Amino acid sequence: MVKHDLLGVGGIVNTEDLVSVFERQAEHYDSRWQKVAPVYLGLYFLLESVFSSLSVKARVLCVGVGTGKELLYLAAKFPGWRFTAVEPSLAMLDVCRRNAEAAGIAERCQFHHGFLDSLPEADNSYDAATCFLVSQFILNQQDRVAFFEQIARKLKLGAILATADLCADTESVQYDELLPMWCSFMSGARATTEQIDRTKDAYTRDVAVLSADKVTAIIAAGGFELPVPFFQSGLLQGWFTRRI
Ligand SMILES: C[S@@+](CC[C@H](N)C(=O)[O-])C[C@H]1O[C@@H](n2cnc3c(N)ncnc32)[C@H](O)[C@@H]1O
Repeated sequence: MVKHDLLGVGGIVNTEDLVSVFERQAEHYDSRWQKVAPVYLGLYFLLESVFSSLSVKARVLCVGVGTGKELLYLAAKFPGWRFTAVEPSLAMLDVCRRNAEAAGIAERCQFHHGFLDSLPEADNSYDAATCFLVSQFILNQQDRVAFFEQIARKLKLGAILATADLCADTESVQYDELLPMWCSFMSGARATTEQIDRTKDAYTRDVAVLSADKVTAIIAAGGFELPVPFFQSGLLQGWFTRRI
């Protein structure tokens, strides 16, 4: 297995491997991402407006919540909302729970260890969902569509999904310029040729970095309206859409 790449996911071959990568990353995940906070805080800042039409008592499903960054941000801004945190890595979910307790919002959260298919909540339960940096790990495009179908089933009709993933046309000339910039940004220093090559491999083999057109089509095929791109920063792109 590759020991390091800039997302720390080198050498993934299946879901178990993926979850075990996040088990190992859990304790350091927040401090690592803190270094690139302006980027994800920009995403969350716009997310507030994406979700601004929700009721004061909205129920929000956070799929692949990790350590809870997006959940904590929304909980602080919208004190009447309740959250369901879905996360297959127990170590990540434990950090999320601890973060929620420290922020005093744990009573508004339900923590589900597992994938969406084991969430006991009835279909059509939620007013909104977030799914940040998760679907990119589903390499098979039909499986990725099925993943969005699962999210759609848990949402009320017209409910809003906000989702973000690494996204680029990896065949384009621009990608050859963008990737070194992204590698430097993620590592906090000018990236070496070896780091760039390794990341390029990982983004082909372990992470489904697809063009915006392909990701848009995948989300829509999962049972959503045409997704609206509302955020882009480097390779990170965010969309919002509504359940059909
Ligand atoms: C890169 S982290 C993102 C965490 C958080 N959403 C964020 O933006 O900081 C991806 C998370 O998704 C989880 N995950 C991976 N595959 C998943 C799946 N099929 N369903 C739900 N969560 C998944 C991983 O365990 C990991 O915690």
